[in-house]
Amino acid sequence: MSGGFVVAIDGPAGAGKSTVARRVAERLAFALVDTGSLYRAAALLASRAGVRLEDVDGVERCVVEAVDAGRMVLVSGEGGRTRVHLDGIDPGDALRTPEVSMGASAVAAYPGVRSALLAPQRAFGRTQGVVLEGRDIGTVVFPDAALKVFLTATPAARAQRRCDELRAKGVAADYGVTLAEVVQRDRQDSERAIAPLREAADAVRVDSTALGPDAVVDRIVALAEARRAR
Ligand code: DC
Repeated sequence: MSGGFVVAIDGPAGAGKSTVARRVAERLAFALVDTGSLYRAAALLASRAGVRLEDVDGVERCVVEAVDAGRMVLVSGEGGRTRVHLDGIDPGDALRTPEVSMGASAVAAYPGVRSALLAPQRAFGRTQGVVLEGRDIGTVVFPDAALKVFLTATPAARAQRRCDELRAKGVAADYGVTLAEVVQRDRQDSERAIAPLREAADAVRVDSTALGPDAVVDRIVALAEARRAR
């Protein structure tokens, strides 16, 4: 019904992108791609291969080889949600540790990693309605997306949400440490030379600091439906 209709949801860590993107995709009956999982998988893959994450060439080679060989792929999962698989296995919560979060932010600055991950992301937008969440979807991956949303919130609100998420999974989390990580990741993600976190000129900015997920989802679905009806 919605071939090629792309909804891009970009924004900093902890703005609520994952929950919002998942619910928007469900409401629109679109596929969902969490592009951060690819960068997380890249960091995990390199560290499992014994490559130091500061070794730009080593990490780039490792990721390019894995993508080319089909060892790192995005697969359609339950309810249209895509999952990243490494060597045929979904790494699950191993992608969500604080070490992998920091590692993903580091390797996401490497040009060879970013270019290797473009094709798997774009493959999902050609034929179907899809929601992609990330940092550069509206600026680089799908600059012609039908709807671009920049979802943001204050660093304090984002750190609190990350803590709550980790604690809900039984992982101990310290607010001060989490806030420092949020600020550091923002800096790394915004200051990198290639595809930095940046709002597209034609994005709709949504601030979730004081808005619950229901209100954010309603707003994005309404925008998508209005554009689809054009
Ligand atoms: O959304 P996330 O926290 O899972 O993303 C993990 C890291 O990957 C984040 O620090 C920035 C990077 N990333 C990126 O550079 N571009 C994307 N499209 C998605 C994530």
